[in-house]
Amino acid sequence: MSKEIILDDYAFLVSETDEKGIINFANDDFCKIAGYELEELIRKNHNIVRHQDMPKAAFKDLWDTVKQGKVWTGYVKNATKSGGFYWVYATVYPFESCDGSKGYLSCRRKASLEEIQTHDTLYKEMIAKEK
Ligand SMILES: Cc1cc2nc3c(=O)[nH]c(=O)nc-3n(C[C@H](O)[C@H](O)[C@H](O)COP(=O)(O)O)c2cc1C
Repeated sequence: MSKEIILDDYAFLVSETDEKGIINFANDDFCKIAGYELEELIRKNHNIVRHQDMPKAAFKDLWDTVKQGKVWTGYVKNATKSGGFYWVYATVYPFESCDGSKGYLSCRRKASLEEIQTHDTLYKEMIAKEK
């Protein structure tokens, strides 16, 4: 069994990507929980924290939503650098900077035990259907 990291009630994990999902920024909470130095995350694909228990369909829904300029919310199980995992409730926002460059911002907070259990079961069913 890999180790679950339970977020603090007030943890707030932020990351910013370009239009392709390449990380441009991650805040201290994100780096600390995921177990990376900021330098290790910058310019990397955001799938660096992808956990194998996440169904493809969840990320398709995320990308389909934000590419339309809409905000996506959902539950995500992420992997830490040392092979552990942590659940978050994420809100992903599309944005356009003043220089015209576009990107996405994800803000994550702690998911409750009940929310985690519900999505753990749901995602297992989704993955079984994807196989
Ligand atoms: C702003 C933003 C934040 C994201 N955050 C995560 C994340 O925390 N964990 C994750 O696995 N994927 C995240 N993604 C989705 C990844 O870009 C990617 O689609 C996903 O990890 C699946 O990887 P794959 O397409 O290589 O299979 C995020 C995407 C965006 C645009």
